[in-house]
Amino acid sequence: MSTILITGASSGLGAEMARQFAAKGHDLALCARRTERLETLRDEIVAAAPERRVELRALDVNDDAQVFDVFRAFRDDFGRLDRVIVNAGLGKGAPLGTGRYDANRETAMTNFVAAIAQAEAAMEIFRAQDAGHLVLVSSMSAMRGMPKSMTVYAATKAALSHLGEGLQYELLGKPIKVTVLHCGYIASEMNEKVQQQVKFMVSTEDGVRSMVDAIEKEKAHAYVPPLPWTALAPLMKHAPLPILKRLL
Ligand SMILES: NC(=O)c1ccc[n+]([C@@H]2O[C@H](COP(=O)([O-])OP(=O)(O)OC[C@H]3O[C@@H](n4cnc5c(N)ncnc54)[C@H](OP(=O)(O)O)[C@@H]3O)[C@@H](O)[C@H]2O)c1
Repeated sequence: MSTILITGASSGLGAEMARQFAAKGHDLALCARRTERLETLRDEIVAAAPERRVELRALDVNDDAQVFDVFRAFRDDFGRLDRVIVNAGLGKGAPLGTGRYDANRETAMTNFVAAIAQAEAAMEIFRAQDAGHLVLVSSMSAMRGMPKSMTVYAATKAALSHLGEGLQYELLGKPIKVTVLHCGYIASEMNEKVQQQVKFMVSTEDGVRSMVDAIEKEKAHAYVPPLPWTALAPLMKHAPLPILKRLL
C-alpha cells in the first residue's frame, strides 16, 4: 500500500487512475479545480473500499504557490507521499497565427510550466524522503511536431517528456524513480468531440488500465495502450512528413 497524489483527478484519466489505484489498495491525495467532482469521486471510491483514505484539495496548477502548498499539505496529511502523478492538462490549442494566442499560451502554461512547478514540488518531497516515484502524463504527440490545433500541445508534451528524461538521467541508480507515459487516444472529456473521428481510440477504463500497469511496474517510459502505439512510435518519430500525414 502506498500514497499517491494525482493532479487533474476531477475527470478523465486522472479520475479513472484514482478508481483503479484505490481498487489496488493505495491511498489517494486528489486535486483539481472542480472540487465537487472530487467529492463525488471520493464518495464513490470509499463506498467501494471503505478502508481507503482519500484526501482532497482544490488546486489550480497554474498558481505556483498553491502547487507547493497543496503538495506539502498532502505530504503532512499522510506523513509521506510515495508517488506523484503530474496529470493535469489541457488540449485547447489553435493553429498558430489565427488569433488564439490566448488558448495556445494557456495550453503551454498548464501543460508545461505548471508541470515544472508540480515536478519541483514533488521532487522537493522525494529528495527529503530519499524515495518516491514521479509520473509524468505525456502523449504520443510528443514524438513529432503536430499540425494545427495540436502544434503547441505537442510541443508542450515533447518538453514534458524531456523534463522526465533529464530527471531519469540525473537519478539513474538512485531510489527516486521517474516514469514518462506516452498516451495514445484514450476517451476523456478532452477528446469527447472527436472520439468518433480519430483512429485507435480506446475506452477510459482500458487505456487507464495500461497506464496503471506501466506505473506500478515503475517503467522509465511506456506507450499506452501498448498496441498500436509501441509499433507506431518509431514511425511517428522518423517517417517523412507526407507519409506521417497519411498515417495519422
Ligand atoms: N485522453 C487522451 O487521449 C490523452 C492522450 C495523451 C495525453 N493525455 C493527457 O492526459 C492528461 C489528462 O487528460 P484527460 O484526457 O483526462 O482530459 P480531461 O478529462 O479534460 O481532464 C483534464 C484534467 O486536468 C485538470 N486541469 C486542467 N487544467 C487545470 C488547472 N489549471 N489546474 C488544475 N487542474 C487542471 C482538470 O481538472 P479541473 O478542470 O477540475 O481543474 C481535469 O481533471 C492530460 O495531461 C492530457 O494531456 C490525454
